[in-house]
Amino acid sequence: MWLLPSCRRVSQKLFTCRLGVRALKPERARARKSLTTALVFTGAMGYLTMRGEFMGFSKKVECQGTKIEFENPNVTILEHSLVPFLLSQIRDPECSTSDYRRFSDRIMHLLIEEAIAAEPMNVTIKKTLAGGDFECYRLTKTPNDFCAVTIIRAGDSMLPKMFELMPGIKVGKVLVQRDESTEDKRSVFYYSKLPKEIAKKKVFILDPMLATGGSCSLVINRLKEEGVKEENITFINLISCPEGLSCLTSAFPDIKIITAVVDPNMNEERYIEPGLGDYGDRYFNSD
Ligand code: PRP
Ligand code: URA
Repeated sequence: MWLLPSCRRVSQKLFTCRLGVRALKPERARARKSLTTALVFTGAMGYLTMRGEFMGFSKKVECQGTKIEFENPNVTILEHSLVPFLLSQIRDPECSTSDYRRFSDRIMHLLIEEAIAAEPMNVTIKKTLAGGDFECYRLTKTPNDFCAVTIIRAGDSMLPKMFELMPGIKVGKVLVQRDESTEDKRSVFYYSKLPKEIAKKKVFILDPMLATGGSCSLVINRLKEEGVKEENITFINLISCPEGLSCLTSAFPDIKIITAVVDPNMNEERYIEPGLGDYGDRYFNSD
């Protein structure tokens, strides 16, 4: 493992940011859940581009501009060679609604698989039909021990993929909405319907966008009122930004966050930049 020497703090306190690229030793690569890396490359025009080449267990990155590495043991940034490609499709304003849905769904598939793979597994040694031994992984919990909570409306778009990957999971819904008439785009709570005994379950919160963090914070507080422990919450998210991550990790240090990318900024309207615009409007074709 190597690190370029320069070290610096950026806006949020909770992330250690280093300039440089971290290459993982093979044995550490599997343990990346405890070593979270986001590489944010700011191109010459201020537009974010990202290009990573993953070779085996080590990561090689070619880029121009600034590379920022975040570390927080509870924040996982999806490492998959397809993510930059898939994200670039849905960031493109010219992407049709059908392509937007198709490419979004593909990233959601990867994100939700990542969340499931992070759950405790029983490992037994079994024999293949050819006679050799293999390690057989099975989730320790049953689907009934899990609950997906969608943040209406954009979070609902993630539910079909959740059902595909974990059929039988219980579902809760929370309706919170950013009040776009306020300067800080404060979120307002309207409604929740949560399964009984949610306090005993592992909860996946589903919402593609993490901007100020206000919406997700309201949902986590609602879950905590029901007795859900922070360590039993994983927020599955597509695009985040430093402010939203900082908001959640400081208020709820024990939750886990899985995101596909950390974009660098928010604009004056508190939309993520570069982001992709309003995720719900684009997915549901309602703008
Ligand atoms: C979007 C998004 C999140 C929220 C993120 O929802 O789906 O819930 O904004 O922003 P925040 O981190 O600043 O709170 P929105 O309120 O636009 O509703 P929608 O799902 O109906 O689009
Ligand atoms: N909601 C969205 O859909 N996009 C953003 O960038 C911020 C909030």
